Amino acid sequence: MNAALLDYIAASPTAYHAVAHTAELLEKAGYTALCESGHWALRPGGKYYVMRNGSSLIAFRVPHGEYSGFMMTAAHCDSPCFKVKENGELADEHYVRLSTERYGGMLCASWMDRPLALAGRVVVRTGDGFAVRLVDLKDCSVLIPNVAIHMNREANDGMKYNAAVDMLPLYGASGAKGSLRQRLAACAGVEEKEILATDLFVYNPQAGCVWNGFVSAPRLDDLQCAFAALTGFMEAEESGAVPVYCLFDNEEVGSQTKQGAASTFLRDVLCRIAGGDEALRAHTANSFMVSCDNAHAVHPNHPEYQDRNHAVYMNGGVVIKYNANQRYTSDAVSAALFRLVCEQAGVPVQQYANRADLPGGSTLGNIANTQVSLNTVDIGLPQLAMHSAYETAGAEDTEHMVCALRAFYGKSLRMERDGTYQFK
Ligand code: CO
Repeated sequence: MNAALLDYIAASPTAYHAVAHTAELLEKAGYTALCESGHWALRPGGKYYVMRNGSSLIAFRVPHGEYSGFMMTAAHCDSPCFKVKENGELADEHYVRLSTERYGGMLCASWMDRPLALAGRVVVRTGDGFAVRLVDLKDCSVLIPNVAIHMNREANDGMKYNAAVDMLPLYGASGAKGSLRQRLAACAGVEEKEILATDLFVYNPQAGCVWNGFVSAPRLDDLQCAFAALTGFMEAEESGAVPVYCLFDNEEVGSQTKQGAASTFLRDVLCRIAGGDEALRAHTANSFMVSCDNAHAVHPNHPEYQDRNHAVYMNGGVVIKYNANQRYTSDAVSAALFRLVCEQAGVPVQQYANRADLPGGSTLGNIANTQVSLNTVDIGLPQLAMHSAYETAGAEDTEHMVCALRAFYGKSLRMERDGTYQFK
């Protein structure tokens, strides 16, 4: 299972590539692409997916018979990294560096002194308009060098990283000037002058590995969940509900984009599946969302950051995340429902809450709920070093998540007038 996960991560250096690769896997499994600008003639038994901006994707299957609602998972396909500015080359007499900005909140130290690569998309001129091409300059390494300890004796006593100074990657010697756009053009198969605009990111191309019961790789947050949810979604048996798989861009920058979890994307898609607002409302009441984003495992050297009763460990199973202020959406009803799923699937469950004096992060569930409001649980897999360029999780947990979500997608939910739920 982890070999397939590492393939998925390697094929997904950016959100655009993650979505393109996911679409390819869905196509291979017989899913049909829908276009948001076209008419949707959905048929019973049909398998579909739709993309927005090439960086978010929603896949679903229409059951053969009547259905009650939607059984959904959501994960994100972006991760913290550096975005190359539009006029990216920063040349002087001796060096060409890249002018970058931070995308999301990474651990800066982990990005230093390692070969990095560039990937993203370029928009190119075509005969009567423009087209998007994905690019991946795998062999075009850049590197962010540390300052030697001899020049900064305080380097081991806590560092401050200035994104405009310390984090600018070295691209080449002065002779490299002007070559970045040439390389992008060659990669996109166009002349340099045909490039109209770019979305280019610095990423870590290092291969993932499995070692002593752990899996380490770039972008485990959240591609481990994205992969596990996709696998569970594709393998699940038909239930009396519509299984929906959501992969959202821009979680790391707050989700408030046209394709992020705060957008209308999910609502728009569900409305078209339901065939209108009235049906959508009834179906939504019988729906459930599992918001999947990794969680913090107890750090071996710093166990003090964990709440004592809510410490979670790698290879201990799927984590349900709780937060009184609802940054995690789990409540007694949604946690109970997800526990039932895991119990029936034989998957161990752990419970996570931040220490009451640590704010923790936010994720997809509460944000998606502002557009489509329904019972939602926040879950994830325990991992170390979240937002490092190279993260570590439990090797057995990928399978735990696949089993749990495959079981979840095989279920349907119905809310009765007396407030009870039928869940089978
Ligand atoms: Co995440």
